[in-house]
Amino acid sequence: MPTSRFSFNRRALLGGGLAVTGAALLSAQGFARQRKSVALPPRAAVAASGEKRISLVAAERSQKLLGPEGPASKVWTYADEPFHLVRLKQGETLAVDFENRLPEHTSVHWHGLRIPNDQDGVPYLTQPPVKPGERHAYRFAPPDAGTFWFHPHCDTVSQLGRGLAGVMIVDGDESRPYDADMVLVLKDWRLDEKTGGWLPFSTTRGELRAGTFGTVRTVNAEQAPRIPLPAGGDCRLRLLNLDSTRVGDLSFEGMEAAVVAIDGNPVAPFPLKEWRLGPAMRLDVVVRAPSQGGEGRLVDFFSAKPVVLASFFGEGEARPARDFDPAPLTRADIPEPQLRQAERLKFAFATASGGKPALAAEGGDALEQALLDSLCAASKTNWSINRESWPAGDHSKIPPPLFTLRQGRSYVAELTNETPHVHPIHLHGFTFKVLKSTRAGTPVHYADTVLLTPKDRITIAFVADRPGDWMVHCHLIEHQETGMMGYVKVV
Ligand code: C2O
Ligand code: CU
Repeated sequence: MPTSRFSFNRRALLGGGLAVTGAALLSAQGFARQRKSVALPPRAAVAASGEKRISLVAAERSQKLLGPEGPASKVWTYADEPFHLVRLKQGETLAVDFENRLPEHTSVHWHGLRIPNDQDGVPYLTQPPVKPGERHAYRFAPPDAGTFWFHPHCDTVSQLGRGLAGVMIVDGDESRPYDADMVLVLKDWRLDEKTGGWLPFSTTRGELRAGTFGTVRTVNAEQAPRIPLPAGGDCRLRLLNLDSTRVGDLSFEGMEAAVVAIDGNPVAPFPLKEWRLGPAMRLDVVVRAPSQGGEGRLVDFFSAKPVVLASFFGEGEARPARDFDPAPLTRADIPEPQLRQAERLKFAFATASGGKPALAAEGGDALEQALLDSLCAASKTNWSINRESWPAGDHSKIPPPLFTLRQGRSYVAELTNETPHVHPIHLHGFTFKVLKSTRAGTPVHYADTVLLTPKDRITIAFVADRPGDWMVHCHLIEHQETGMMGYVKVV
């Protein structure tokens, strides 16, 4: 089986018969040499302005997740199709009329957007929860172009588990248009394959370990879709891991591929060999689409047996042959942390200290029980940040912040993992610079979520440029909801 995939994989290659040709290797090396001198081109002044009005209606809808012949499932979505795409231009203001038609309260958190704290969508902390039948207005101008997403922030294990998530693209980061621009949402579902009904979204075993995995893997809510691309074109694929649990080791076969953005933040293009994408993380990749009749594949090598998540075929008249040298994105304008003056913070991610028992169902005080918001209260605490677990009690009693930060100051934070499990750690409101990580081959880049592997240590830096209470938590939702959650206060 011939392949033009230039990045060879150290693990078992799919199908056993794949070989990397000398020509492919050469082109990879040429590209790798070349990229060192590539600085991102500046972004033209933002031209767009004005307001874009949209409405989102969170409701239960029917969706075929088990193929056209299979039973339908009752998903929760923001619009008629899963992973509804909201697209606007950098400089535009987004005005959202949000309506909750779910049987429980919810809110919308805009993941990765550097917007004011009162638009951040965390119930009790930044806004009241939006009760069933209620509406809520969000209004903000995203300061950065890129690939983002939005989701609820309470009972997320079940709301996100049922599909409640949307994709946001802010346009304005391209230096040259690509031949195609496509969203690929990776999300698994916990389905009973006979009935299309839901299996329990969390399990004790999963909560205590690596999380509870979906049973049906999909890309754009379809199992192993076959996706057409313009033959021989340079296509931007926006990969979003919107799963609650699953970490993927993603790689392309049969197509050259380069990373152009991490969590929506442009980086100088570098060849994609294999990328570990944890929950909530995004990766923008440019691939050279197969020629007509050719095929490429997106493969997850995380488990012993590689899984083909999607395949791509070339369509239409082929573009002329040329070297693979994808256009870079333009430079974003993220505040640069001042490392010398920066204050140091430490975040230790661990199991719950001393195995504190669950508070939620205990106590006996009738009023306390009545106030107890079981939806946002973890029933147990398994995990902690800096020895504190998000309290398993009335969510209206917010715990004290992990740190109080001064507005405008720079901070360098060291994140350590004291557990044998991976934790995708997300900080709300700030795009941080990843200065140091034990993960080899990662360039200095900006992100909003980093994957802490077991015993890992990652150093990040950011400017605390906007006041408010900003969540810090693991984005493996069962960890988040059983204690690995906290916030920093910027004053
Ligand atoms: Cu994706 Cu607290 O968020
Ligand atoms: Cu975790």
